[in-house]
Amino acid sequence: MKNFCAAIWFCLFAAVLFTSCKKQGTTNTGGGGGGGGGGGTTPTILKDAATPMVGVGISYDLFKNNATYSGLVKSQFDRVTAEYQMKHGANVKNDGSYDFTKTDDFMNLAQAGGLSVFGHVLAWHQNNNGNYLRSLAPSQVNNALQNWVNTIVTRYKNKVTGWDVANEVVVDGTGELRTSANSTGSGADQFYWADYLGRSYIADAFRWANAADPAAKLFINDYNLESDNRKLDSVIKIINELKAASVPIHGVGLQMHISINTNNAGIDNAFQKLAATGLLVHVSEMDVRINPSNSNPFVPTQPILDMQAQKYRYVAESYFRNVPAAQRWGLTVWNLTDADSWIVIGGKIDFPALFDAGYNKKSAFSQYISGLQ
Ligand code: XIL
Repeated sequence: MKNFCAAIWFCLFAAVLFTSCKKQGTTNTGGGGGGGGGGGTTPTILKDAATPMVGVGISYDLFKNNATYSGLVKSQFDRVTAEYQMKHGANVKNDGSYDFTKTDDFMNLAQAGGLSVFGHVLAWHQNNNGNYLRSLAPSQVNNALQNWVNTIVTRYKNKVTGWDVANEVVVDGTGELRTSANSTGSGADQFYWADYLGRSYIADAFRWANAADPAAKLFINDYNLESDNRKLDSVIKIINELKAASVPIHGVGLQMHISINTNNAGIDNAFQKLAATGLLVHVSEMDVRINPSNSNPFVPTQPILDMQAQKYRYVAESYFRNVPAAQRWGLTVWNLTDADSWIVIGGKIDFPALFDAGYNKKSAFSQYISGLQ
């Protein structure tokens, strides 16, 4: 009898301990990296696996029109980022006026679905209404950026919890400030703010965003930080300059468009160095290419898919190992399935996502969720 009572008390104690560590609704037990508890049985819902928010970059059209897609987003994730709908090019018309009809709808659908929304993006050199911006006199460009930042941040004040304010501001290899002179690509949607405004547009965009929504957490965001040390150091230098000038910057995003070949030590290094800035750290757009050289034909064999799964897991584990709990803004994957991935839509032969084209969980899903635990 005594042993029986002791066992009951032990179970009660274990249950209390467990619910205090994990989000509700998780089944625990397996060994993991520290998302919120240790444990054995693998959970099946991503957002239940970890305390920081688990997000996904999504298509407004699919979220609105495809019930399987939206259902999966709502059941698996805490937070969404619009992969296109909150960008300049999606909301600014050719005469410079705004049309937020679809973006309002996106916001309403996300909130009705119980999802938190992360804003993306205020100042980027792509996905702009470049025709409108190029029609301006150079002296009007500063006003155009200020007006855009102020208008969209004010509109979604208290609806989005944070914004990617400045995106991809330095170039690969050298870490120089990105301008049209040191970049390739000349699509109609491209517009290089720095060509007109120099580097001051970065600090200004943060200040304007903060004035419009003082509660929103404001991020600088970039890619290749895990593989390009000069770029990483350059982003850190900019962060330190902004902080020294009392610019309201709160976080840094690592896009992490990585591949099965991405070096694990580089992932650790980027998290460690960025965490040392003291800012919030967001894995903002993760996907893992399995055919980085774009071989054609290409067959996604199980061993390659397993390598991908291990990479997803490694990123999650490294994040928890290297980013202190108070600085964890969360981890966001970019796109839901292999079919709607921007890499595939962009013409590459690849399978970068957590779910396959039939909405089935891939090995990547199982390993990612284990890494989040
Ligand atoms: C991509 C979107 O996924 C596409 O739908 C869009 O056409 C182009 O942009 N870095 C970023 C994201 O910061 O905004 C990009 O998203 C992917 C690379």
